[in-house]
Amino acid sequence: MKVLVLGSGAREHALIWKFSQSTRISGLFAAPGNAGTGELAANLLDVDPLKPESVLAAAGKHGITHVFVGPEEPLTLGVADVLRDAGIAVIGAHREAARLEGSKVFAKAFMRRNAIPTAEYQEFSDLKAAGRYIKASGEKIVLKKSGLAAGKGVLESDNKGKMLKFAEKVLEDDTLIIEEFLEGFEATVFAVCDGKNYLLLPPCADFKKAGENDTGPNTGGMGSVCPVPGLDARLQARIRSETIEPTFAALKKENLMYRGILYFGLMITPGGPKILEYNVRFGDPETQALLPLINSDFGNLCDAIATQNLDTFPLEVSEKTSLGVVIAAKGYPGSYEKGIPVSFAEKADEKDLHIFHASTLRGKDGTVLTNGGRCFTVVALGKDIYEAAERVYAGVKNLSFKGAWYRPDIGKRFMTE
Ligand code: AMP
Ligand code: GLY
Repeated sequence: MKVLVLGSGAREHALIWKFSQSTRISGLFAAPGNAGTGELAANLLDVDPLKPESVLAAAGKHGITHVFVGPEEPLTLGVADVLRDAGIAVIGAHREAARLEGSKVFAKAFMRRNAIPTAEYQEFSDLKAAGRYIKASGEKIVLKKSGLAAGKGVLESDNKGKMLKFAEKVLEDDTLIIEEFLEGFEATVFAVCDGKNYLLLPPCADFKKAGENDTGPNTGGMGSVCPVPGLDARLQARIRSETIEPTFAALKKENLMYRGILYFGLMITPGGPKILEYNVRFGDPETQALLPLINSDFGNLCDAIATQNLDTFPLEVSEKTSLGVVIAAKGYPGSYEKGIPVSFAEKADEKDLHIFHASTLRGKDGTVLTNGGRCFTVVALGKDIYEAAERVYAGVKNLSFKGAWYRPDIGKRFMTE
């Protein structure tokens, strides 16, 4: 197999690392990739993942047989459709199914008409009506932009002034969703789908807020844990029967099944699990914690997806717990500098400790330079969350750059001792 991974984050570095361990791989490419993927794969810097024709041309040029699409945007632009039409195996939703992530209007209506548990909601395209609703609402509500917004499309606030401003901004060019605020704890479940069958991976949780104890502004995700302590077999069975099975039944009924990843963003409420959102891809930073726990050969897994044999795939998962801690640039999630040199400890790659690059590139002299806000995810495995936390926070000391910061309490929410 010659595999191309589209994207350039730590999620994609983790995917490339996992593919690099496969016995099935005869060529590995990332587009555009980062300094980390460049150590294990060829980075195709001239490919624009947002231009399906550019990806198709690169696939032809390099004899690529399988394309794994990391982020959502190329999927909403139809990259999977274009590649598949040309006979290339793609792990990624087709354009129609990508609307489950690309349009909250579509996703919410899909859940409503199929009676899949989710927050009650209303849709607005008129600012006056939205304003009246916001002013009159006594309950806590959540405002959402329908289209893709790179993590900035949701407002949870008690401040009506802020809500009105947010509504006005969204309604300039999109539809607004207002939904009930759900209490509970969040978890993410990934289903790997082959268009007919699906396989569930261990549940993950991410830590979205910038500050300790889940305070401060939202980020793309500052850390992750897998599996989620407290999400026991009984609760997992409920998630499966109440949210996942009805989703797949509805996908089948509506001809939306696809070969790729389906992300269930869940709120575990006192009344049972409810779906906050679907994404049509792996999560970041959940994937960085998840993949080191998968013992199965990833090439074999992709082959099973491509050939629709997931029903007989022998998925092997480690019993350990994995924690990921994101190292960010000073200022993130606000504005930050780029191009800061990174230094690494001599022996950074111990077993069960991983440094996945996110936004990095290599300078002319080979130095790794930061190239974004979230720069690395450090991941460590342990026999439980306590050991994983001890190891990951020892691990983060293996790299440094000016202004680097991370949350010191990833995992703590799930620790009882
Ligand atoms: P979404 O993009 O819809 O998953 O929303 C992003 C984040 O906002 C979620 O991960 C939750 O932390 C929060 N959120 C979204 N919808 C709700 C809701 N109805 N109730 C409570 N929190 C929510
Ligand atoms: N970690 C949340 C996401 O990938 O959307």
